[in-house]
Amino acid sequence: MKNSDVFEKDQKYIVHTYNRFPVAVKSGYGAQAEDFWGKRYIDFSSGIGTNSLGFCNDKWVQAVVSQVKQLQHTSNLFYTLPDSLLAERLCKVTGYSKVFFGNSGAEANEGAIKIARKYGMEAKGEHCNRIITLKNSFHGRTVTTLSATGQDIFHQHFFPFTEGFLYVPANDIYALQEAMDDTVCAVMLELVQGESGVNVLKKEYVKEAERVCREKGILLIVDEVQTGVGRTGTFLCCEHYEVRPNVITLAKGLGAGLPIGAILMDKLTENILQAGDHGSTFGGNPVVCTGAIEVLNQVADADFLSAVNSKSDYMHEKLSAMPNITDVSGIGLMFGLSLKKDLKAGEIAKKCVENGLLILTAKEKLRIMPPLNISQKEIDIGLNILGECLSGTLL
Ligand SMILES: Cc1ncc(COP(=O)(O)O)c(C=O)c1O
Repeated sequence: MKNSDVFEKDQKYIVHTYNRFPVAVKSGYGAQAEDFWGKRYIDFSSGIGTNSLGFCNDKWVQAVVSQVKQLQHTSNLFYTLPDSLLAERLCKVTGYSKVFFGNSGAEANEGAIKIARKYGMEAKGEHCNRIITLKNSFHGRTVTTLSATGQDIFHQHFFPFTEGFLYVPANDIYALQEAMDDTVCAVMLELVQGESGVNVLKKEYVKEAERVCREKGILLIVDEVQTGVGRTGTFLCCEHYEVRPNVITLAKGLGAGLPIGAILMDKLTENILQAGDHGSTFGGNPVVCTGAIEVLNQVADADFLSAVNSKSDYMHEKLSAMPNITDVSGIGLMFGLSLKKDLKAGEIAKKCVENGLLILTAKEKLRIMPPLNISQKEIDIGLNILGECLSGTLL
């Protein structure tokens, strides 16, 4: 099999909803991947934040393989051990009360939206069903999570969209307060807007939003699909902000490359969903949950998180000093790089990939999200390729 064979089959049989780089990834280990030509790449993308432990982490592979040999799936009509163990670990690590498992970030957010609407109806009546989200947010690709996403570009083609979302500008507490009338059941925030360019919300804003939510009996939902599970150097990004939302959604990094979504609920929200209110055929899948337990074994550890922070500081310093980068945003191992005006992020990213570095873009920025356990050597090789692509040394 050659790269070109893969491209050909993809072109012929897969719907073209993605603009792919011309690389067919065949295998990987740690933060290094190989294509069908045997060309090697350093991975600064981690499957857009999903491969938190890199490619094929030994302990994770061992856990997943042993589970798949024992029990790959049964329906949610029966109990299984891995989802109970994972839920227990997640609750103990985060201090939340209950968990619902699904398969993706969008699905987790859909569930959170259902929780908010049922809460609003029961607490205040049917009129209380609206949810405030932020402009430039991203919450998923289902019709309802597209509605929740505060960007006009996502509100095309698929009418009618789910009603009941209000969008306010980020970091403007007055706009938020003004929108919080008695029809609002929840405020839903991404603390670092990943897809929009790694835009970090201000701490005072988020803390004040939490205070007003509490005062008005409005739920606070935080979408940690991208920021959760160690990505920002704390297990939850909320820890940086010292807030305690009623509901948190997780996905990406929790699965280490297998599909998972999770909704964490606090004491106020833990009993809102009752039998029949929600479900997911694959939710809580034993193989996926066993892998996620191994993610927690490694990531929910003070030394591991401290290493994430050290790598973050190191990369931040090196990136800030690179030619043609005008600003570095982000927390932990989640970076948005603003470029000098005449440079296009897409073109630089293409050049990086051609030269052996898998990298991302977000809007007009370059975006970096390496595996959380990337080695110092892999960081240096990746930074070197990026620096040379930015300075024009590499064509
Ligand atoms: C903050 C956030 N929420 C939700 C989603 C949707 O997740 P998924 O693609 O797993 O449905 C994403 C995906 O990028 C995201 O970044």
